[in-house]
Amino acid sequence: MKVGIDKLGFYAPKTYLDLETLAMQRQVNPDKYTIGIGQKKMALPSYSEDVITMALEAADSILDESDKQTIDTVFFATETAVDFSKAAGIYMHSLLGLKPSTRVLELKQACYASTGALFMACDHVRVHPDSKVLILASDIAWYGFETAGEATQGAGAIAMVISADPKIAQVFQGKVITENRCDFYRPSYSSVPMVDGKLSIESYKTLLKQVEPKQPFNYICFHMPFAKMANKANEVLAYPIGENELNIIKDYGSEIGNIYNGSLYLSLLSLVMQAPEDLSSQEVGMFSYGSGAIGEFFTLKLEKDYQQAINREKIQSIFNDRYALSIAEYEHMMNHYKKREESSEFVLDETTIFKHQTFALVAITKGHREYKRI
Ligand code: HMG
Repeated sequence: MKVGIDKLGFYAPKTYLDLETLAMQRQVNPDKYTIGIGQKKMALPSYSEDVITMALEAADSILDESDKQTIDTVFFATETAVDFSKAAGIYMHSLLGLKPSTRVLELKQACYASTGALFMACDHVRVHPDSKVLILASDIAWYGFETAGEATQGAGAIAMVISADPKIAQVFQGKVITENRCDFYRPSYSSVPMVDGKLSIESYKTLLKQVEPKQPFNYICFHMPFAKMANKANEVLAYPIGENELNIIKDYGSEIGNIYNGSLYLSLLSLVMQAPEDLSSQEVGMFSYGSGAIGEFFTLKLEKDYQQAINREKIQSIFNDRYALSIAEYEHMMNHYKKREESSEFVLDETTIFKHQTFALVAITKGHREYKRI
């Protein structure tokens, strides 16, 4: 039985900070960010957005009535949890019109949880071939002002429907490695991660070497905390991909920044949206890395009609009409985000909702969040 990705959706906030603007403010040579780190922009959540609204937007852009009747499991992969007990997906369930009998779980292992979810979803479909699984990968990479990680922030969500006879790609098991490392972690007392940047890059490359493919691929998509990381990863491979191919899989990530769990799948979207050739029947390499750490190299085989299965117009529209923040707006917006996430009460000023948004976080009451379809 063929099992894999039937639908693939993406959402990123329209609000972004240009890396040159940040460099100027931090008195850093802009080439360090744009060439050394390889990033152009970082998307950041506007006043009414969080990981749940972003996941709602991504899911809503791909689900039809038949999906809603067939999805029996939702996996929400995030390391930006808004609650230590209640799964983020529970807030979305009725807004998306999913069946009351759907199982909804939140999964965590840094940026790798989405890939873990993908393999569990494929196994679930093999046992229940008439069912579908919705995977949501939604994160806000926020390191704080004037930190080394500040230039590698980002926000966004990926939604995938996993089914039998998938329209986009079959998924094949690869090789996985788990090692206890302290390159990046966020204890419960901290709102930002503890990061050893150099160790994290070394860990990424060390785990990749242990699972790397023994054959060449035209394209490999990488987990991309910043675009230059894909070059660093590619350099250590026995069979690296070409420079043009690398630029294609990096492009969307360099425009959005690190979206943690969604990052590898954003690289896949960059590929399927921008490859000049037809990729039908091609095998694509995928490297997933989650600090702490797990690395997995696996493959996808693109289906004949994969191009028609992607809402190209919708994906392209995410990159159009974006709103460039000034430094003052960036600081105001992220201070608002921090304050909101540390408060038990919040009421949204509805004039701050952007016109492209379909969902908004409108209130927090005694820690309970309220979302609205606008
Ligand atoms: P840093 O230490 O400030 O930067 O932070 P640097 O001094 O290493 O410089 C960066 C690069 O810019 C270097 O290139 C410089 O030479 C170059 P490299 O030697 O690496 O090739 N450079 C310039 N290039 C051109 N013109 C110039 C110039 N100046 C310098 N004028 C770091 C960089 C990425 C460490 C930091 O941003 C950070 O800590 N980020 C967060 C951690 C991270 O992203 N780690 C990546 C691997 S771990 C991972 O992927 C997991 C993760 O997604 C989390 C999860 O799994 O949940 C993060």
